[in-house]
Amino acid sequence: MHDLLITQATLVNEGRVHQADVAIKDQRIAKIASDLSAEKAARVIDAKGLHLLPGMIDDQVHFREPGLTHKGDIATESAAAVAGGITTYMEMPNVNPLTINRQALEDKYTRAAGRSRANFAFYLGASNDNLDEIKNLDPQAACGIKVFMGASTGNMLVDKPEILEGIFASAPILVATHCEDTPMIQANEDAAREKYGEEVPFTEHPAIRSEEACWKSSSYAVELAKKHGTRLHVLHITTARELELFEPGEMRGKQITAEACVHHLWFSEEDYPRLGAQIKCNPAIKRKKDRDTILQAVKEGRIDIIATDHAPHTWEEKQRSYFKAPAGLPLVQHALPSLLDHYHAGRLSLETIAQKASHNPAEAYQVKDRGYIREGYFADLVLVDLQGESLVDKASLFYKCGWSPFEGHLFQSRISATLVNGQIAYENGQLSDGIFGQRLTFDR
Ligand code: DOR
Repeated sequence: MHDLLITQATLVNEGRVHQADVAIKDQRIAKIASDLSAEKAARVIDAKGLHLLPGMIDDQVHFREPGLTHKGDIATESAAAVAGGITTYMEMPNVNPLTINRQALEDKYTRAAGRSRANFAFYLGASNDNLDEIKNLDPQAACGIKVFMGASTGNMLVDKPEILEGIFASAPILVATHCEDTPMIQANEDAAREKYGEEVPFTEHPAIRSEEACWKSSSYAVELAKKHGTRLHVLHITTARELELFEPGEMRGKQITAEACVHHLWFSEEDYPRLGAQIKCNPAIKRKKDRDTILQAVKEGRIDIIATDHAPHTWEEKQRSYFKAPAGLPLVQHALPSLLDHYHAGRLSLETIAQKASHNPAEAYQVKDRGYIREGYFADLVLVDLQGESLVDKASLFYKCGWSPFEGHLFQSRISATLVNGQIAYENGQLSDGIFGQRLTFDR
């Protein structure tokens, strides 16, 4: 007897779109076959007309716990994640206290157990003085090592060349970088202050967090990775120029990979007059040409992974003037719907979405038994209705901050249900009580 049987779903998996039934037992996918209707199950979901994708694995979120929980916390933001079809997330270290040692990491795993609705792992943050902590890291204790090679929220800049050399030379697991050159940005900020005073228009953000600042830092990261043979993943690419740094094609075998985030694939500088601080983020949203070239690079394979960089701030914080309004926007609830809108517009195929948002992050981070619809793998799945529509309004948001840059947008698809470890975590607008995710383990 199976726990759950999903019948007649259209599976999107490993480069194919085909109809099948999926049986789930003891958290995992027990069987995938063209007709399992004769099998017994405690519950059957008739998924005729719906698409079944592997749940999205978001390798870049800020859930703000501990220390910044007025913006969001593990319970609220993971609820928004499962409502958006994200079944696994990897969370960043710029909280308070910073996640820069083993104890801080374990504290986060303890906080997430029994409260996180999606599966979880945490990054060890690099600082200018925790190299020993990085060298001695247990590879199961963190998903990766996060290096802020450009300063952003949380004062975690690592800028000493000898420390960066040490990290790239000795990191035992994947190094994920935020690349923006801080001295260049500071010079641009000074020039903007000179011109506008404190009331810098938000339209200046992409000129301040400039293309040159991105290029200088990304090319430095790639150079260090080539020198030391580091497994490098460059997070949130925002400029067409940086794409030259990465190889096209399949991700398998690459030592250096790159990522795009959903807001950089959606918004452009034309949206600053309308949204202002709401879309202020680091690195900045840039020109239409950058956005469109990055979208092309997703197809070519120069971009291997799509994530969110979900970074909630309160509405009050976002009302401040340019220098005081914090960077970052809440995204996890609408990441997959936004990618599905790209599908509807003919810009991305469903197979590419599954590859970049599920298969590739699982492979890049060596996540064990997740990221694919495969027998024996955990049943982390999302059922989507490509004919359904979903309007983003305040009432539908699960974020603690209570706002979204997508408010008013009508997505062309609807997340029908999200399964985490074989259990229905979210269905038809409702979260299920008492369903929580697990700590990730890694094949490393
Ligand atoms: O816009 C951003 N917000 N970029 C980052 O690098 C950090 C993030 C945050 O934590 O707010």
